[in-house]
Amino acid sequence: RENISIGLLGLGVVGAGVAQIIENHREKLIHQLGSEVNVKSVLVRDPEKIRNIDKEQTHITTNPDDILKDPEIDVIVEVMGGVEEARQYILQAFSAKKHVVTANKDLVALHGPELQEIASLNKCDFYYEASVAGGIPILRGITGGLSADHIQQVMGIVNGTTNYILTKMDNEGVSYEDALMEAKDLGFAEADPTADVEGLDAARKMAILGRLAFSTNVDLEEVEVSGIKNLELADLEYGNTLGYTMKLIGSAKCKDQKVEVNVQPTLLSKNHPLADVKNEYNAVYVYGEAVGETMFYGPGAGGLPTATAIMSDVVEVIKHIHLGVNGTQVTEPRFKKELMKADQ
Ligand code: NAP
Ligand code: HSE
Repeated sequence: RENISIGLLGLGVVGAGVAQIIENHREKLIHQLGSEVNVKSVLVRDPEKIRNIDKEQTHITTNPDDILKDPEIDVIVEVMGGVEEARQYILQAFSAKKHVVTANKDLVALHGPELQEIASLNKCDFYYEASVAGGIPILRGITGGLSADHIQQVMGIVNGTTNYILTKMDNEGVSYEDALMEAKDLGFAEADPTADVEGLDAARKMAILGRLAFSTNVDLEEVEVSGIKNLELADLEYGNTLGYTMKLIGSAKCKDQKVEVNVQPTLLSKNHPLADVKNEYNAVYVYGEAVGETMFYGPGAGGLPTATAIMSDVVEVIKHIHLGVNGTQVTEPRFKKELMKADQ
């Protein structure tokens, strides 16, 4: 196949990053994949908005059928956000035998297993590396690099917006409101930042991490969550005087075949490795029985870092297209219950 055509659902902070990488890394992608990758069509809400994209090359549309029913489009990249509409479009994409890559943690945390199953039934790939910790390849780290180990704990800073706010409040004495405004302007916060500041975004990411690390489903309703909305500068200053830094920490552990996940503001000693993770950066500590301690670190939000993770999935999908092994879910473990059934 000479050309691989992508349909982008969304052209905001992350979608524009994907289009930019495809444009700027064109030669590298051709060299790596032996085919040219192009963004054929893009779904948006407002077609009049000024966008940094070549309209001669890329069709901008408000009609999802222009993408989902286009037989020339092989891969759908969902970067529009929201849950139900995105889910419906992805289901339509699978029915049309298109592969899907998404950055949508709200959707994956709620409907990941269902979508994965439908993808497999349709022999389609479904990847979501960008849904957790932006540019850090943590899902491949867990399901690839550490796949043969018994993971015992996953813990970390997985929301860039709140880490940015806490860093600004702690280090520069910026108010909560001003720091949140900056995080929005920089494209780190969600369209509605409530999920960021209330800890729900981190909870969704920890649920995805818990599911993959422990090969068992995690019910979002059972995740204990508290955010940073009620923290004041005085709380951070008080921690500082005692040698502590406030961070929003997520944790997932497996106990008696049940994964316990929680997210809460935590005072860390300044010597703790996570205390030094600043601004929109994320870090995830993974403890495996055989490997011991590992730490994954990098930019956790923002257009280009997130788009890098999306493109790693797109590259994986294209390799599968070329090899004719679509729908082999190399990153998705079978859940423990299924394994136990299979063993009986
Ligand atoms: P964004 O800047 O708000 O962009 C959303 C894009 O989707 C816009 O182009 C918007 O169109 C389009 N869109 C939204 N709803 C639509 C609908 N119903 N129909 C058609 N088009 C629609 O959002 P973003 O920051 O790029 O985030 C996108 C996704 O990536 C979300 O799931 C988010 O959680 C996830 N994510 C974001 C980051 C980050 O750092 N920002 C990192 C990791 C994951 P218009 O342009 O016309 O408004
Ligand atoms: N709003 C999210 C964050 C984007 O701040 O971490 C990356 O998932």
